[in-house]
Amino acid sequence: MKVTVFGIGYVGLVQAAILASVGHDVLCVDVDQSKVDNLKKGIIPIYEPGLTPIVEETTQNGLLNFTTDAAAGVAHGKIQFIAVGTPPDEDGSADLKYVLAVAETIASHMNEPKFIIDKSTVPVGTADKVTAKVAEVLAGRNLSLDFDVVSNPEFLKEGAAVNDCMKPDRIVVGTDSQAARDAMTELYAPFNRNHDRMIFMDVRSAELTKYAANCMLATKISFMNEMSNLAELLGADIEAVRHGIGSDTRIGYQFIYPGCGYGGSCFPKDVQALVRTAHGIEYQPALLEAVESVNAAQKQKLFKNLSHYFKGDLKGKTIALWGLSFKPQTDDMREASSRVLMEALWQAGAKVQAFDPEAMEECQRIYGDSQELALVGTKESALKGADALVICTEWSQFRAPDFDLIASSLTHPVIVDGRNLYDPKLLKDKGFAYYAIGRGESVQAG
Ligand code: UDX
Repeated sequence: MKVTVFGIGYVGLVQAAILASVGHDVLCVDVDQSKVDNLKKGIIPIYEPGLTPIVEETTQNGLLNFTTDAAAGVAHGKIQFIAVGTPPDEDGSADLKYVLAVAETIASHMNEPKFIIDKSTVPVGTADKVTAKVAEVLAGRNLSLDFDVVSNPEFLKEGAAVNDCMKPDRIVVGTDSQAARDAMTELYAPFNRNHDRMIFMDVRSAELTKYAANCMLATKISFMNEMSNLAELLGADIEAVRHGIGSDTRIGYQFIYPGCGYGGSCFPKDVQALVRTAHGIEYQPALLEAVESVNAAQKQKLFKNLSHYFKGDLKGKTIALWGLSFKPQTDDMREASSRVLMEALWQAGAKVQAFDPEAMEECQRIYGDSQELALVGTKESALKGADALVICTEWSQFRAPDFDLIASSLTHPVIVDGRNLYDPKLLKDKGFAYYAIGRGESVQAG
């Protein structure tokens, strides 16, 4: 099938490459000329394991193409994906200006019926707005053409996006049009072979499904973070509690890892956007607001633990930081806990020596050159001359470090661990003050 994807960001590029890899003929359109030029040369703007060879193969065999020519994009596909960004505006609502601009572009150039698919995460009611925009522009052109606007949210995890797209748990399609339903069934048939993953529903339910999924997962995490704070105060171990509750299949083991707060491009943005949507219809979403405030407090926890150890005096201290990205297998630092920590440390007059396997360039891009931040090439060099070690991201290379080297490198034997990577007893025996998340014993060690 001929498919056009507007927006070569994270979602658009992954979806386009995977559709091309199964034989669809995909043209990607973006306003960013240098991005398009780079992609034509095989240079990919994001870090995503497994994506580069797929983009290379599909561009070489001619099934994946890139252009800035919007008219050519509209002419190409019967199916037109909108996969542009929906950044939060000042009050946290999703800003639809890019989505509506693409709708306008499609309507300005289309000369035959099209299926217009919302892939971006958009608030409930957006498909109606896209429909109204397309109808308005077509009316202005005195054209009467059939079109359907479909909601088809993505459920990709950064770092696992290729697999999530190849083997989706579900393909949610919101439409009341049989023709659109048939087109989406044909489009996704290669991913729907052994089990039926297609879930059809009305447009608004599909739009809400995306938010409900992310808010549910964010809720699980904030719930566990709240339990971890209780566990700490009560002298219990949240890791034992996690095992204990996860074994109940109704609860399950996934997404119940306590930590230094969730980050990334989805959870914080989507929880906030649904809160704003609720406010807009005069509903007070008490649970979602709590999920957000628990997370904000949790992101302060690493700084609080350091302050506790150094009795509030962090001025002039140098803190070694392992992990900058919001989770492993990505270079993404959007809403990362590391940023909250670093900014609090700088505020308190401390310096940071940081190492991350992938996110150093991104960190440099965000913070630039600074006396207060040294980005170093290895986890060991981050320790040199530092007063304490903090772990923000659970990259596998941090899981079994040389504790003797850590002890001899740091001026103070203290590890603040935002991901519960180590055994509190072992660290206590080695003489460390070990601050983990929700592990009563570890706090007492400090
Ligand atoms: C998420 C959803 O998982 C995905 O389905 C959706 O399409 C986009 O948002 P992503 O943001 O890539 O994906 O990362 P995810 O693996 O979900 O992690 C999000 C954050 O939650 C990370 O900061 C992670 O460290 C944190 N997290 C996750 C926890 O703190 N505890 C957990 O148990 C799981």
